[in-house]
Amino acid sequence: MVCLGNICRSPLAEGILKSKVDTAKVLVESAGTGGWHVGQLPDIRSIEVARKFGIDITDQRGRKFSAYDFESYDHIFVMDNANYRDVIELANSDSEKQKVQLLLDEIFPGENVDVPDPYYGGNHGFEKVFQMIEEACEKIASRLS
Ligand code: 4NP
Repeated sequence: MVCLGNICRSPLAEGILKSKVDTAKVLVESAGTGGWHVGQLPDIRSIEVARKFGIDITDQRGRKFSAYDFESYDHIFVMDNANYRDVIELANSDSEKQKVQLLLDEIFPGENVDVPDPYYGGNHGFEKVFQMIEEACEKIASRLS
């Protein structure tokens, strides 16, 4: 699960997908294309909206997406089109590129829809983002189980 800062959207996506799959069988992690928040806790607004829906994401710390992640993961879900471009730039082959998908393609296939960046908005933005990610993760989890 990849976004820009790895403090707002992708930590929610990691926590939500982990809550829906058998984590002994499926490795779920998140990262940011930018490195400003490496080592930091998720944004307090993400922590709080996740907690409201019963998910604890306070064990997560920011990390930066790396080209090595293409080797470790079968699927790379990006939150928006800018993340898509940044991740694709690091791919070394067509098979690595094919691992990358917009998360909301799960619910709006082919429509190129972004998970909006809630960083500069209020708490309502985080709840909306939570719901979009939740719906997409439900689809992913149903395929994995
Ligand atoms: P995220 O949100 O990509 O959903 O984690 C952001 C968090 C921080 C920044 C940008 C987006 N930032 O510029 O620091």
